[in-house]
Amino acid sequence: MDSILVEKSPPLSGEVRISGAKNAALPIIAATLLCDSPVTLNNIPNLADISAMERLLCSMGLETRYEREEGTLQIDPSRVRWLEAPYDLVRKMRASFFVLGPLVGKYREAKVSMPGGCAIGARPVNIHLKALEALNIELEVEHGYVVADGSAMKGGRVHLDFPSVGATENALCAAVRAPGETVIENAAREPEVTDLADFLAAAGAKIEGQGSSTIHIQGVDQLSVDSYAIIPDRIEAGTYLAAAALTGGTVQATHCREKDLTAFLADLESAGCQTRIEPNGGGLDNITVSRPGPIEAVSEIVTLPHPGFPTDLQAQMMALLCLAEGTSIIKETIFENRFMHVSELNRMGADIRVEGNSAIVRGVDSLSGSPVMASDLRASAALLIAGLVAEGKTEVLRVYHLDRGYEKIEEKFSGLGARIERVKPAPRSA
Ligand code: EPZ
Repeated sequence: MDSILVEKSPPLSGEVRISGAKNAALPIIAATLLCDSPVTLNNIPNLADISAMERLLCSMGLETRYEREEGTLQIDPSRVRWLEAPYDLVRKMRASFFVLGPLVGKYREAKVSMPGGCAIGARPVNIHLKALEALNIELEVEHGYVVADGSAMKGGRVHLDFPSVGATENALCAAVRAPGETVIENAAREPEVTDLADFLAAAGAKIEGQGSSTIHIQGVDQLSVDSYAIIPDRIEAGTYLAAAALTGGTVQATHCREKDLTAFLADLESAGCQTRIEPNGGGLDNITVSRPGPIEAVSEIVTLPHPGFPTDLQAQMMALLCLAEGTSIIKETIFENRFMHVSELNRMGADIRVEGNSAIVRGVDSLSGSPVMASDLRASAALLIAGLVAEGKTEVLRVYHLDRGYEKIEEKFSGLGARIERVKPAPRSA
C-alpha cells in the first residue's frame, strides 16, 4: 500500500491548475444513464472514484471510453442490459447510489445496493428514499438492496428534511423524466448539484431554480447532449490554497471559480491571509492566496450546507489553525464523526480538544513530523499539508484515500516547491 512522504518544505509558491470536480463528475456520469444517445464528458479528473463509477456503468452494459490524460469520458448509454448496482461496487464507493434516480427515471425500475456507512458517519439514505416516494415511486428495501418500481411515477412536491446533496441529485434525476411538474423544496445548493442540473438542462431537461433552495422541473420524454464540461473542483482548489496559507507562501490556483469558495476565502482572510481574484475567461477565475503575517486564530468556523463553509475543507482549515496565534473553534454540523484527523494532528504536536461537534484548536508554535494514518479523503489531505510545515518527515499512510479525490497530488505539490514523494512498499521477500 503506497504512502506519501512529506518533509518540511519552503513556503509554497507558483501556479497550480485545478482539475474537474470529482463531486460534480460522479452524479453527471450516473445521469448519462438518462440520455438517449452517446455523451462525451470533458474536464473529467483522473481519479480512482471516476474509474469506480465507470466500472459500475460498464457492469450494467454501457460502453465507455475513459481517456485519463485528455480528461474525457465517452459514454454510450444505449446498451443498458442490467438495471442493478451490486453491493460489491456500491460498498466501495457510496456515490454509486447516485444511479438510483437515473435508472428509475429512465427505465422505471432499479435495484441498487444500500450504501454502507463510512469513516465520517452512518450516512443513511432515508432522505433519498423519501424524495423518490414523493414522486410516486414504489420502494422496497430487501436483502440490503433498494428495489424501485417507477411504473406509476409522476411529478410531485418533494420536500427534503435536510438539503442533502445526494438526495437532491437522485430526486433531480428521477424527476426530469417523470410526467408532469416536480418541485424540490429545501434542495441542496452546492455547485456540484447546480452542475448536474445544468448538464441535464443542456440535454433538454426543463429545470429552473438550480442553485437555490427550490428547484422546479417539468418532465420530458427525451434527453440527449453531445458533450459537456465539468466545473472545477472547489475542494481541490481550497486544499492547495490552505497549504499556501499554512506554509506562508503565495500560490495561484488557476481555472477555478471564486463564487464556489466565498465562505472559505472569507475565513482564510480572517486567519490573516490575503486573496486576489483574476478572471480567467469562461466564468473561471485564478485565485491567489498569500499570508504576509502570522496565522490569526478564527473565533468560530461552522460547516454548513452551501453557501456556508464546506465540510470538505474543515480538516484542511483545522491544519492551518493548528499554528495560529490564539484559540479557534471549528464546529462540524454536517457529519457526526468528521474529527478523526484530530488525533493524528495531535500526534504531530497540535493542541486540539473535541467537545461534542466542536473542536477547540489552541495554536502551537510548531508541529513535528510523524507517520500518520488517515481515515477519509479530506483528513488525508489535511495531514499532508500539516507535514509541509512539520519539523522532519511525515509519512501519510493509506494514500489510496488521496488517490480517490486528488489528481496527480504529488506532482502538483512538487510543482509548488513541496518536498513530497510517493513511496511504494518494499516488495515482500519471497
Ligand atoms: C456529498 O455527499 C459529497 N460526496 C461529500 O463529499 C460531501 O461532504 C457532502 O456531499 C456534503 O457536502 C459526493 O458528492 C460524492 P449529504 P452526500 O447527503 O451526498 C445526512 C468528499 O470528501 N444524510 O449532503 O452523501 C448525512 O449522513 C465527500 O468528496 C441523511 O441523514 O452528502 C450527512 O450527515 C465526503 N440521510 C448529511 O446528511 C440521507 O438520506 C449530509 O449528507 C442523506 C444524507
